[in-house]
Amino acid sequence: MDINKYSPKFKIKQNDLLRVSDLSTEDIFELLYTAKVFKKKFKVGENSPVLRGKTIALIFGNASTRTRVSFEMGIRQLSGDYLFLPKNETQLARGESIRDTAVMLGRYGISALVLRAFTDAQVREFADCCEIPVINGISDSAHPLQILSDLFTIWEVKGRLDNLKIAYIGDGNNVANSLIIGCSKVNMDVTIASPHGYSPAKEIIDRASQFSNVLITDNVAEAVKDADIVYTDVFISMNDEDDELKKKKLARYRVTKEVMSLAKEDAVFMHCMPAHRGEEVMADVIDGPRSIVYDQAENRLHMNKAALTLLVH
Ligand code: CP
Repeated sequence: MDINKYSPKFKIKQNDLLRVSDLSTEDIFELLYTAKVFKKKFKVGENSPVLRGKTIALIFGNASTRTRVSFEMGIRQLSGDYLFLPKNETQLARGESIRDTAVMLGRYGISALVLRAFTDAQVREFADCCEIPVINGISDSAHPLQILSDLFTIWEVKGRLDNLKIAYIGDGNNVANSLIIGCSKVNMDVTIASPHGYSPAKEIIDRASQFSNVLITDNVAEAVKDADIVYTDVFISMNDEDDELKKKKLARYRVTKEVMSLAKEDAVFMHCMPAHRGEEVMADVIDGPRSIVYDQAENRLHMNKAALTLLVH
């Protein structure tokens, strides 16, 4: 399906946004078109008060710059209110159940929950326990809003989504999982170069392969050949222990200028950030002319507003 031939209805079929794999291609396009409207409005200083009278709870279990600020600013720009709740400062940290927490928040008039750094099972439990929409702001195996923002960024920069090739280089983490599923659902070819033992889960690859061509390799040159987009992420994810052996194995998967030169001449570089220059990517790539990382980061704002608008009624 070609996004440029799609007529948006500005509606999605989901009540929650937990994983990209729950979304149909149509739902993804609806979110992208809605983000496009919000970005256009933002650029001319126009806002829509669609969250007036609504309060969104942000329950965060780890540090965040982009996810937190883009939600807080997005909610303000939509005339809504938010409660930022560090998980450790709630009774969840002392063992209170997800059900009791979720039901209570709904009774206090909270209109949606954004969860950060819960397990997939906990995110699902929140969604099952409460009537209000639940949005996954990163879990152990998924980062859906990041990837929806990335698809929006690719659409802006390349003018289309289908028949592009994306090469993901490095650790098969939660960002990689959501990226593979999201890109395959919009008909992009996906290649992943990871060392043995660090590839994304087989279940993810099998699912993505139902939608588009997906290749797993340990060879960076093979992965980036003819790629329109080269994407990487940190070698050690935020809640993981530092692991020297893993970093050593992944060192060959660093994105350098030489790696970029093997991709298409107009290939762009993406990273969900925060980045470690000199580790998974060299500074002359992420700070160079092919990098679109700040567009990606900015688009988190517009995509969060799209998700909130389509989910919160
Ligand atoms: N990409 C991302 O989720 O950034 P933060 O960790 O700063 O929220």
